[in-house]
Amino acid sequence: MENAVKKIGVLTSGGDAPGMNAAIRAVVRTALQRGIEVVGINRGYAGLLEEDMREMDGHSVSDIISKGGTLLYTSRCPEFTTPAGRIKGVESCKKHGIEGLVVIGGDGSFIGARELANRGINSVGVPGTIDLDIACTDYTIGFDTAVNTAMDAIDKVRDTSTSHERCSIIEVMGRRAGYIALWCGISNGAEEILTVETYDHDESGIINRILEKKKAGKKHYIIINAEGVGDSANMAKRIEEATGIETRATIIGHIQRGGSPTARDRVMASLMGAKAVDLLAEGKSKRVVGFRDGKLVDYEVNEALAMKKTLDPYMWDVSQRLSRL
Ligand code: ADP
Ligand code: F6P
Repeated sequence: MENAVKKIGVLTSGGDAPGMNAAIRAVVRTALQRGIEVVGINRGYAGLLEEDMREMDGHSVSDIISKGGTLLYTSRCPEFTTPAGRIKGVESCKKHGIEGLVVIGGDGSFIGARELANRGINSVGVPGTIDLDIACTDYTIGFDTAVNTAMDAIDKVRDTSTSHERCSIIEVMGRRAGYIALWCGISNGAEEILTVETYDHDESGIINRILEKKKAGKKHYIIINAEGVGDSANMAKRIEEATGIETRATIIGHIQRGGSPTARDRVMASLMGAKAVDLLAEGKSKRVVGFRDGKLVDYEVNEALAMKKTLDPYMWDVSQRLSRL
Protein backbone atom coordinates (compact mmCIF):
# COMPACT_ATOMS: atom_id res chain seq x y z
CA MET A 1 0.00 0.00 0.00
CA GLU A 2 1.25 3.48 -0.82
CA ASN A 3 2.26 5.75 2.07
CA ALA A 4 -0.01 8.72 2.74
CA VAL A 5 3.03 10.87 3.60
CA LYS A 6 6.42 11.15 1.91
CA LYS A 7 8.31 12.98 4.61
CA ILE A 8 7.77 13.15 8.37
CA GLY A 9 9.36 14.91 11.34
CA VAL A 10 10.00 13.60 14.82
CA LEU A 11 10.52 15.64 17.98
CA THR A 12 10.69 15.17 21.74
CA SER A 13 8.97 17.76 23.93
CA GLY A 14 8.48 18.54 27.64
CA GLY A 15 10.47 16.68 30.33
CA ASP A 16 12.78 14.00 28.92
CA ALA A 17 12.31 10.33 29.80
CA PRO A 18 14.52 7.25 29.48
CA GLY A 19 13.42 5.38 26.36
CA MET A 20 12.82 8.48 24.23
CA ASN A 21 15.88 7.53 22.18
CA ALA A 22 14.46 4.06 21.57
CA ALA A 23 11.25 5.70 20.35
CA ILE A 24 13.14 8.03 17.99
CA ARG A 25 15.08 5.05 16.64
CA ALA A 26 11.84 3.15 16.00
CA VAL A 27 10.28 6.15 14.25
CA VAL A 28 13.30 6.67 12.00
CA ARG A 29 13.82 3.02 11.09
CA THR A 30 10.12 2.24 10.55
CA ALA A 31 9.78 5.28 8.30
CA LEU A 32 12.91 4.55 6.28
CA GLN A 33 11.87 0.94 5.77
CA ARG A 34 8.57 2.20 4.40
CA GLY A 35 10.38 4.61 2.08
CA ILE A 36 9.36 7.69 4.06
CA GLU A 37 11.97 10.40 4.63
CA VAL A 38 12.53 11.50 8.25
CA VAL A 39 13.67 14.78 9.71
CA GLY A 40 14.76 15.01 13.35
CA ILE A 41 13.63 18.30 14.89
CA ASN A 42 15.85 19.52 17.73
CA ARG A 43 14.56 20.87 21.06
CA GLY A 44 10.88 20.14 20.54
CA TYR A 45 8.63 22.89 19.23
CA ALA A 46 11.42 25.46 19.79
CA GLY A 47 13.48 23.72 17.09
CA LEU A 48 10.47 23.57 14.79
CA LEU A 49 10.02 27.34 15.06
CA GLU A 50 13.74 27.95 14.54
CA GLU A 51 13.93 25.37 11.71
CA ASP A 52 16.61 23.55 13.68
CA MET A 53 16.34 20.13 12.05
CA ARG A 54 18.33 17.45 10.24
CA GLU A 55 17.73 14.56 7.88
CA MET A 56 17.86 11.23 9.72
CA ASP A 57 19.31 8.12 8.09
CA GLY A 58 19.48 4.61 9.53
CA HIS A 59 22.90 5.26 11.10
CA SER A 60 21.78 8.47 12.79
CA VAL A 61 19.98 6.31 15.35
CA SER A 62 22.64 3.60 15.69
CA ASP A 63 23.79 2.83 19.20
CA ILE A 64 21.17 4.95 20.98
CA ILE A 65 18.63 2.34 22.17
CA SER A 66 20.50 1.87 25.44
CA LYS A 67 21.04 5.57 26.10
CA GLY A 68 19.00 7.79 28.41
CA GLY A 69 17.98 11.34 27.47
CA THR A 70 17.00 12.27 23.93
CA LEU A 71 19.45 12.76 21.06
CA LEU A 72 17.02 15.35 19.65
CA TYR A 73 17.11 17.37 22.89
CA THR A 74 13.88 18.66 24.38
CA SER A 75 12.43 21.90 25.68
CA ARG A 76 9.34 23.68 26.81
CA CYS A 77 8.40 26.31 24.23
CA PRO A 78 5.91 28.99 25.36
CA GLU A 79 6.00 30.70 21.94
CA PHE A 80 4.39 27.67 20.33
CA THR A 81 1.32 28.03 22.58
CA THR A 82 0.48 31.39 20.94
CA PRO A 83 -1.57 31.63 17.70
CA ALA A 84 1.39 33.26 15.92
CA GLY A 85 3.73 30.52 17.15
CA ARG A 86 1.47 27.76 15.87
CA ILE A 87 1.23 29.39 12.42
CA LYS A 88 5.02 29.70 12.36
CA GLY A 89 5.22 25.98 13.21
CA VAL A 90 2.97 25.06 10.29
CA GLU A 91 4.97 27.28 7.93
CA SER A 92 8.19 25.63 9.09
CA CYS A 93 6.73 22.17 8.35
CA LYS A 94 5.54 23.25 4.91
CA LYS A 95 8.87 24.89 4.04
CA HIS A 96 10.70 21.64 4.83
CA GLY A 97 8.15 19.36 3.17
CA ILE A 98 7.11 17.78 6.48
CA GLU A 99 3.67 16.26 5.93
CA GLY A 100 3.47 14.28 9.16
CA LEU A 101 4.88 14.65 12.65
CA VAL A 102 5.55 12.26 15.53
CA VAL A 103 5.51 14.10 18.85
CA ILE A 104 7.01 12.22 21.80
CA GLY A 105 5.97 13.85 25.08
CA GLY A 106 3.06 14.40 27.44
CA ASP A 107 -0.42 15.92 27.27
CA GLY A 108 0.89 19.47 26.71
CA SER A 109 2.94 18.29 23.76
CA PHE A 110 -0.11 16.46 22.36
CA ILE A 111 -2.10 19.72 22.42
CA GLY A 112 0.67 21.24 20.29
CA ALA A 113 0.45 18.28 17.90
CA ARG A 114 -3.32 18.68 17.67
CA GLU A 115 -2.93 22.35 16.78
CA LEU A 116 -0.56 21.46 13.92
CA ALA A 117 -2.96 18.73 12.77
CA ASN A 118 -5.82 21.26 12.77
CA ARG A 119 -3.74 23.29 10.32
CA GLY A 120 -3.00 20.42 7.93
CA ILE A 121 0.12 18.73 9.34
CA ASN A 122 -0.78 15.12 10.16
CA SER A 123 0.34 14.44 13.71
CA VAL A 124 0.56 11.49 16.08
CA GLY A 125 1.53 11.62 19.77
CA VAL A 126 3.63 9.03 21.59
CA PRO A 127 3.42 9.06 25.42
CA GLY A 128 6.83 9.85 26.87
CA THR A 129 7.02 10.90 30.52
CA ILE A 130 8.34 9.37 33.72
CA ASP A 131 5.17 10.51 35.52
CA LEU A 132 2.74 7.92 34.02
CA ASP A 133 0.16 10.71 34.08
CA ILE A 134 -1.33 10.31 30.59
CA ALA A 135 -4.88 9.05 30.94
CA CYS A 136 -5.30 7.26 27.62
CA THR A 137 -2.51 4.79 28.28
CA ASP A 138 -1.56 2.30 30.98
CA TYR A 139 2.09 2.91 30.16
CA THR A 140 4.28 5.91 29.42
CA ILE A 141 7.85 5.67 28.16
CA GLY A 142 10.32 6.28 30.99
CA PHE A 143 8.18 5.27 33.94
CA ASP A 144 9.75 1.86 34.50
CA THR A 145 13.31 3.19 34.44
CA ALA A 146 12.43 6.12 36.73
CA VAL A 147 10.69 3.92 39.27
CA ASN A 148 13.58 1.48 39.33
CA THR A 149 16.07 4.32 39.77
CA ALA A 150 14.02 5.78 42.63
CA MET A 151 13.50 2.35 44.22
CA ASP A 152 17.22 1.69 44.14
CA ALA A 153 17.99 5.09 45.71
CA ILE A 154 15.38 4.54 48.42
CA ASP A 155 16.84 1.10 49.27
CA LYS A 156 20.16 2.86 49.84
CA VAL A 157 18.63 5.54 52.04
CA ARG A 158 16.85 2.81 53.95
CA ASP A 159 20.19 1.10 54.78
CA THR A 160 21.61 4.17 56.45
CA SER A 161 18.26 5.07 57.99
CA THR A 162 18.15 1.64 59.66
CA SER A 163 21.76 1.88 60.90
CA HIS A 164 21.00 5.19 62.59
CA GLU A 165 17.46 4.24 63.67
CA ARG A 166 16.13 7.29 61.87
CA CYS A 167 13.06 8.35 60.02
CA SER A 168 13.64 9.27 56.36
CA ILE A 169 11.41 11.36 54.18
CA ILE A 170 12.28 10.69 50.56
CA GLU A 171 10.89 12.94 47.86
CA VAL A 172 10.30 11.41 44.44
CA MET A 173 9.27 13.15 41.21
CA GLY A 174 5.72 13.74 40.09
CA ARG A 175 4.44 17.28 40.51
CA ARG A 176 0.87 16.41 39.69
CA ALA A 177 0.88 12.61 39.80
CA GLY A 178 1.65 10.10 42.55
CA TYR A 179 2.44 7.01 40.47
CA ILE A 180 6.18 7.03 41.14
CA ALA A 181 5.47 7.54 44.85
CA LEU A 182 2.90 4.75 44.95
CA TRP A 183 5.09 2.26 43.09
CA CYS A 184 8.09 3.11 45.29
CA GLY A 185 5.91 2.98 48.38
CA ILE A 186 4.98 -0.61 47.60
CA SER A 187 8.30 -1.76 46.19
CA ASN A 188 10.34 -0.20 48.99
CA GLY A 189 7.95 -1.27 51.73
CA ALA A 190 7.52 2.30 52.97
CA GLU A 191 5.62 3.12 56.14
CA GLU A 192 3.88 6.13 54.57
CA ILE A 193 3.13 7.21 51.00
CA LEU A 194 2.13 10.84 50.46
CA THR A 195 0.70 11.71 47.06
CA VAL A 196 -1.11 14.80 45.75
CA GLU A 197 -4.10 12.60 44.98
CA THR A 198 -4.46 11.09 48.46
CA TYR A 199 -2.65 13.09 51.16
CA ASP A 200 -4.99 14.93 53.53
CA HIS A 201 -2.15 16.95 55.14
CA ASP A 202 -2.96 15.43 58.51
CA GLU A 203 0.58 15.21 59.87
CA SER A 204 -0.69 14.17 63.30
CA GLY A 205 -1.86 10.90 61.75
CA ILE A 206 1.67 10.18 60.49
CA ILE A 207 3.21 11.18 63.82
CA ASN A 208 0.84 8.98 65.83
CA ARG A 209 1.55 5.99 63.61
CA ILE A 210 5.32 6.52 63.97
CA LEU A 211 4.98 6.75 67.77
CA GLU A 212 2.88 3.56 67.89
CA LYS A 213 5.43 1.69 65.78
CA LYS A 214 8.26 3.05 67.92
CA LYS A 215 6.53 1.64 71.01
CA ALA A 216 6.24 -1.70 69.24
CA GLY A 217 10.03 -1.68 68.68
CA LYS A 218 10.34 -0.45 65.09
CA LYS A 219 13.77 1.01 64.29
CA HIS A 220 13.28 3.00 61.12
CA TYR A 221 10.53 4.72 59.13
CA ILE A 222 10.43 5.43 55.44
CA ILE A 223 8.06 8.12 54.21
CA ILE A 224 7.80 8.51 50.44
CA ASN A 225 6.71 11.99 49.54
CA ALA A 226 5.61 12.90 46.01
CA GLU A 227 7.14 16.12 44.66
CA GLY A 228 3.70 17.69 44.36
CA VAL A 229 3.16 17.42 48.12
CA GLY A 230 6.61 18.96 48.68
CA ASP A 231 7.88 20.51 51.91
CA SER A 232 10.08 17.49 52.71
CA ALA A 233 12.76 19.41 54.63
CA ASN A 234 10.29 21.23 56.89
CA MET A 235 8.22 18.11 57.34
CA ALA A 236 11.37 16.33 58.56
CA LYS A 237 11.95 19.03 61.18
CA ARG A 238 8.36 18.83 62.43
CA ILE A 239 8.37 15.03 62.59
CA GLU A 240 11.68 15.00 64.46
CA GLU A 241 10.33 17.50 66.98
CA ALA A 242 7.06 15.64 67.51
CA THR A 243 8.49 12.11 67.71
CA GLY A 244 11.98 12.61 69.13
CA ILE A 245 13.28 10.46 66.27
CA GLU A 246 16.10 11.91 64.18
CA THR A 247 14.61 12.61 60.76
CA ARG A 248 16.31 13.39 57.45
CA ALA A 249 14.89 14.51 54.11
CA THR A 250 16.31 13.31 50.78
CA ILE A 251 15.16 14.70 47.45
CA ILE A 252 16.08 12.21 44.72
CA GLY A 253 15.53 14.72 41.92
CA HIS A 254 16.59 14.54 38.30
CA ILE A 255 18.56 11.29 38.50
CA GLN A 256 15.07 9.77 38.09
CA ARG A 257 14.93 11.19 34.58
CA GLY A 258 18.25 9.78 33.38
CA GLY A 259 20.04 6.50 32.89
CA SER A 260 19.91 3.58 30.53
CA PRO A 261 16.27 2.57 29.92
CA THR A 262 15.01 -0.75 31.22
CA ALA A 263 14.01 -3.51 28.79
CA ARG A 264 10.36 -2.57 29.31
CA ASP A 265 10.99 1.05 28.36
CA ARG A 266 13.05 0.07 25.31
CA VAL A 267 10.46 -2.39 24.05
CA MET A 268 7.42 -0.17 24.72
CA ALA A 269 9.18 2.80 23.11
CA SER A 270 10.06 0.69 20.05
CA LEU A 271 6.47 -0.53 19.65
CA MET A 272 4.92 2.89 20.18
CA GLY A 273 7.37 4.67 17.86
CA ALA A 274 6.73 2.13 15.09
CA LYS A 275 2.96 2.35 15.59
CA ALA A 276 3.04 6.15 15.26
CA VAL A 277 4.72 5.89 11.85
CA ASP A 278 2.34 3.12 10.73
CA LEU A 279 -0.58 5.43 11.56
CA LEU A 280 0.91 8.35 9.62
CA ALA A 281 1.66 6.07 6.68
CA GLU A 282 -2.02 5.04 6.67
CA GLY A 283 -3.03 8.69 6.46
CA LYS A 284 -4.17 8.94 10.09
CA SER A 285 -3.79 12.17 12.03
CA LYS A 286 -4.72 13.63 15.44
CA ARG A 287 -4.06 10.27 17.10
CA VAL A 288 -2.27 9.38 20.33
CA VAL A 289 -0.66 5.97 20.69
CA GLY A 290 -1.30 4.10 23.94
CA PHE A 291 -1.04 0.74 25.64
CA ARG A 292 -4.27 -0.54 27.13
CA ASP A 293 -5.07 -3.95 28.64
CA GLY A 294 -1.90 -5.43 27.19
CA LYS A 295 -2.44 -4.13 23.66
CA LEU A 296 -1.11 -1.29 21.56
CA VAL A 297 -3.98 1.13 20.83
CA ASP A 298 -4.55 4.63 19.46
CA TYR A 299 -7.11 7.29 20.29
CA GLU A 300 -8.33 10.49 18.71
CA VAL A 301 -6.34 13.22 20.45
CA ASN A 302 -9.30 15.13 21.95
CA GLU A 303 -10.77 11.90 23.24
CA ALA A 304 -7.37 11.04 24.74
CA LEU A 305 -6.95 14.48 26.35
CA ALA A 306 -10.47 14.36 27.86
CA MET A 307 -9.77 11.11 29.71
CA LYS A 308 -9.12 11.26 33.45
CA LYS A 309 -6.64 9.17 35.35
CA THR A 310 -6.70 8.36 39.05
CA LEU A 311 -4.46 6.21 41.20
CA ASP A 312 -5.74 2.66 41.05
CA PRO A 313 -7.90 2.34 44.20
CA TYR A 314 -7.08 -1.33 44.80
CA MET A 315 -3.36 -0.68 44.42
CA TRP A 316 -3.63 2.22 46.87
CA ASP A 317 -5.62 0.09 49.32
CA VAL A 318 -3.02 -2.70 49.17
CA SER A 319 -0.20 -0.18 49.71
CA GLN A 320 -1.94 1.02 52.87
CA ARG A 321 -2.69 -2.43 54.23
CA LEU A 322 0.89 -3.61 53.71
CA SER A 323 2.40 -0.57 55.40
CA ARG A 324 0.32 -0.50 58.54
CA LEU A 325 1.78 -3.36 60.63
P1 ADP B 1 4.22 17.68 28.54
O1 ADP B 1 4.20 17.47 27.08
O2 ADP B 1 5.16 16.77 29.24
O3 ADP B 1 2.82 17.71 29.15
P2 ADP B 1 4.33 20.59 28.75
O4 ADP B 1 2.97 20.74 29.30
O5 ADP B 1 5.45 21.39 29.35
O6 ADP B 1 4.88 19.09 28.82
O7 ADP B 1 4.23 20.88 27.19
C1 ADP B 1 5.36 20.77 26.36
C2 ADP B 1 5.28 21.77 25.26
O8 ADP B 1 4.12 21.49 24.46
C3 ADP B 1 5.10 23.21 25.70
O9 ADP B 1 6.29 23.83 26.08
C4 ADP B 1 4.54 23.83 24.43
O10 ADP B 1 5.56 24.10 23.50
C5 ADP B 1 3.64 22.70 23.91
N1 ADP B 1 2.28 23.00 24.36
C6 ADP B 1 1.75 22.85 25.58
N2 ADP B 1 0.48 23.32 25.64
C7 ADP B 1 0.22 23.82 24.41
C8 ADP B 1 -0.90 24.49 23.82
N3 ADP B 1 -2.01 24.74 24.52
N4 ADP B 1 -0.81 24.85 22.52
C9 ADP B 1 0.31 24.60 21.80
N5 ADP B 1 1.40 24.00 22.31
C10 ADP B 1 1.37 23.61 23.58
O1 F6P C 1 7.17 15.60 33.91
C1 F6P C 1 8.34 15.01 34.33
C2 F6P C 1 8.91 15.75 35.50
O2 F6P C 1 10.12 15.13 35.86
C3 F6P C 1 7.99 15.86 36.72
O3 F6P C 1 7.96 14.69 37.50
C4 F6P C 1 8.61 17.03 37.43
O4 F6P C 1 7.67 17.67 38.24
C5 F6P C 1 9.04 17.92 36.31
O5 F6P C 1 9.21 17.09 35.17
C6 F6P C 1 10.34 18.63 36.59
O6 F6P C 1 10.64 19.44 35.53
P1 F6P C 1 12.01 20.21 35.35
O7 F6P C 1 12.82 19.43 34.38
O8 F6P C 1 11.60 21.52 34.76
O9 F6P C 1 12.68 20.33 36.67
